[in-house]
Amino acid sequence: MRDHARDERLDAASERRAGASRAWGAHSARDALDGAITAIAAAGCETPRLDAELLLADVLGVSRAQLIADRDLAVEGPAIRAFQDAVRRRAVQREPVAYIVGRRGFRRLELTVDERVLIPRPETELLVEVALSLSYGAHLLDVGTGSGAVALALKDERPDLDVAGSEVSEEALEVARANGRRLGVDVRWMSADLLDGVPDEFDAVLANLPYVADSERAELAPEISRHEPQGAVFSGPEGLDAIRGLLEQLARRERVELVALEVGAGQAPAVARLTRAAGFGAVRSQRDLAGIERVVVGERERVVVGERR
Ligand SMILES: C[S@@+](CC[C@H](N)C(=O)[O-])C[C@H]1O[C@@H](n2cnc3c(N)ncnc32)[C@H](O)[C@@H]1O
Repeated sequence: MRDHARDERLDAASERRAGASRAWGAHSARDALDGAITAIAAAGCETPRLDAELLLADVLGVSRAQLIADRDLAVEGPAIRAFQDAVRRRAVQREPVAYIVGRRGFRRLELTVDERVLIPRPETELLVEVALSLSYGAHLLDVGTGSGAVALALKDERPDLDVAGSEVSEEALEVARANGRRLGVDVRWMSADLLDGVPDEFDAVLANLPYVADSERAELAPEISRHEPQGAVFSGPEGLDAIRGLLEQLARRERVELVALEVGAGQAPAVARLTRAAGFGAVRSQRDLAGIERVVVGERERVVVGERR
């Protein structure tokens, strides 16, 4: 049976809280979110509720779960302006949430990200999974490391591996280095255009290089075309220039026994052909959660993949 007296007491308390909030120019999280969701949805963003919750949780310094559990949390003082700014960046400038809050989760790590680096994507975790089965102590290079996501996640999960990350963008390399330092994960960083000048000491090479065709620029979401580094996204008329260049160099690097390359939708057959042409006899592809052939894996005869000790 409903306790009407109790309901009335709760209603009155909630009225008093709302009145106090209005008097101080504050909102409840519920009201702040409602307004933000409307603005973000009107701008055409795909996940307005999630975005608004992540932005408000960041401004309030609470987890998203805490925010969902307590919609009466007060949004007051400087938090009001900070949240308005964040929502404007998201809705008007179409800035990705990860750049606004300055971080993105990848595997077990939280990486610092900004517009110098591509935001690591969940499908890229497949590259890490492929390399988890490398032999004990193998030497591995992550080419085009960006924020350092793949290299750092692997070293974190397989400390026995010798892991290096290389980059052509000095700005991106600064972000990767800073992530490594902050997380206390020991990865060697190298500045290099693909494998130019990189020592011939690696057993395995992983790469999530740019793979979008130049002609697809107009079709991309503004989050990508306006904010992510263009050198991290586009790679020639078919999107394959960087991957092709890497495989041509790998043809002359016989010590490399395993290569794993992230590719775009529909590119796996062409990349598998290029991988075979580079001397990797056994080639397979792995699908991501959307069923897209996302990673092409090539192995030379001497097998690196095997039992972990
Ligand atoms: C798609 S982003 C991936 C970043 C990171 N590996 C990740 O998965 O989040 C591609 C990265 O490759 C770098 N890159 C592009 N061309 C390169 C080249 N020729 N040599 C080395 N790195 C390159 C870009 O600067 C960018 O950081």
